[in-house]
Amino acid sequence: MFNKTTIKDVSLEGKNILIRMDFNVPIKDGKVQSDFRLQAAIPTLTYILSHSPNRLVIISHLGRPKGKVEPALSLAPVAKVLAQLLNRPVIFIPQVIGMDLKTKIESLPKGSVILLENLRFSPEEEANSLDFAKQIVSDTNSNLFVQDGFAVIHRAHASTTQIPTLLPTVSGFLIEKEIKNLKKILDSPAHPVTMIIGGAKISDKQPLIDRFLSIADHIIVVGKIAADGFTSTNPKVYVAEDFREDAAGDKLDIGDQSLAKILQFIEESQTIIWNGTAGKTEEPGFDLSSKAIAEAIGKKNSGTNQTIILGGDTSGFVEKLLKTQSLHFTLVSTGGGASLEYLLGLPLPGLDAIN
Ligand code: 3PG
Repeated sequence: MFNKTTIKDVSLEGKNILIRMDFNVPIKDGKVQSDFRLQAAIPTLTYILSHSPNRLVIISHLGRPKGKVEPALSLAPVAKVLAQLLNRPVIFIPQVIGMDLKTKIESLPKGSVILLENLRFSPEEEANSLDFAKQIVSDTNSNLFVQDGFAVIHRAHASTTQIPTLLPTVSGFLIEKEIKNLKKILDSPAHPVTMIIGGAKISDKQPLIDRFLSIADHIIVVGKIAADGFTSTNPKVYVAEDFREDAAGDKLDIGDQSLAKILQFIEESQTIIWNGTAGKTEEPGFDLSSKAIAEAIGKKNSGTNQTIILGGDTSGFVEKLLKTQSLHFTLVSTGGGASLEYLLGLPLPGLDAIN
């Protein structure tokens, strides 16, 4: 189970709450392109706000500005979308530390929701600086820290490992949901377990395949790694055998025969973990098999079966389908690297730091 203290275990009333989210969302021309990670944050934020905190200060990173201010990576557009989702004002303050920050925050009414600027505009964030963490805590005058940035808990940064050394720290609902589901896959999955692995680079996926040979009943290899000729002698492994090609003869999607077999595996399985699309989904016509796989998984009963979607590309693909179709998954993970590192048994410093 989940052995961390959560927001449900502590009193939130009257507290100055500092919360770390992962609002690393795609932004183009100042507009948020996908609100998936923002939607995933809403249950935690609404729960906190319904428990009368004095104020809620949100911190996050966006992209990889490498310690420099990059206006295109400002969190300002995120504040606007978050305000719509929360149906209340979100005040954006374009700084993370500073004496004037304290004054600004103190002047806001009780119950305010504040989003600070991109943590990674300061090199101290990724340098895991304790002094930077101390400044954030002091300039926001916080007395409780909530960690709910699941997608960043595999990083040892000031906002993931140092702030928890300074304040009582609890987990939000997103981390709890993600970890509970991933832990169940490792500890007590319902069998048959099928893992579908796709994507472009075998070097990225080989560790996952190796790890799951002892957990899964079937490992299905699709996508470019299958098209590039991945082979395995392990009887648990099925590699897609036929492909849809473009005019140049490039294999951009798996073919009907392989798809039919995979749909059969999905039908017969109780636990399905899918990481990596079956084809080049951004090319028109080559998203066919990935769509069929998503629909087959999403139409299984997600209460009695455990259906998990992992990795940025696959989660993004499924999220788009969810806008138009009624599909259900036990978890569409918000963490790219974080969920894979957890499944590989690697340490998650931001999770370890929660009290
Ligand atoms: C992610 O998108 O995977 C997280 O936000 C972590 O980002 P990072 O890989 O730049 O640390």
